[in-house]
Amino acid sequence: GDPRVARISAAIRVVPDFPKPGIRFRDVTTLLLDHQSFKDTIDILVEKYKDKNIDVVAGIEARGFIFGPPIALAIGAKFVPMRKPRKLPGEVIGEEYTLEYGTDRIELHVGAVQPGERVLLIDDLIATGGTLRAAISLLERVGAQVAECACVIGLRDLKGQERLGSKPLFILVECE
Ligand code: PRP
Ligand code: HPA
Repeated sequence: GDPRVARISAAIRVVPDFPKPGIRFRDVTTLLLDHQSFKDTIDILVEKYKDKNIDVVAGIEARGFIFGPPIALAIGAKFVPMRKPRKLPGEVIGEEYTLEYGTDRIELHVGAVQPGERVLLIDDLIATGGTLRAAISLLERVGAQVAECACVIGLRDLKGQERLGSKPLFILVECE
């Protein structure tokens, strides 16, 4: 394996019982405090995607906004934010998705991604895969081609990968 990944993994803090009892929350803010690990995280993703003809890096609110933009700049792609409801000021298109309790929704500015554009979808973490699944559906509804999804962390237990079907998913750090 890549020796940089062990240091990245070690830089991610686990906060027990956040945001509720029983959840072991993977907190990437501590990774951002370790300059070398943050840089390595971006470098690994840039090395992987720089020659893949990616037109757009789409980042999912909130922590996809931390990792997406430096990757977009380095690979010469646009950055497009995918946001929680009522945050984007222009005309939006949205996709609802199911949570453990209730539903959530992700929105995208109409026209931000053009039909046929190749998108790399970025988030900090995949748990159930519901968020990425909804983001993929939304991007495909506007005619984009989601080339691949990439997350810093994958929670293995929650079977997020299965929810994405055959869509390629790259995970830097796998957690139990
Ligand atoms: C977290 C995480 C992913 C999503 C993963 O965001 O950053 O976006 O959950 O879960 P899933 O794979 O089960 O869909 P969160 O809901 O904490 O929102 P926030 O980034 O706005 O805090
Ligand atoms: N960290 C960040 N987001 C999350 C987590 C976590 O541990 N679990 C589900 N969404």
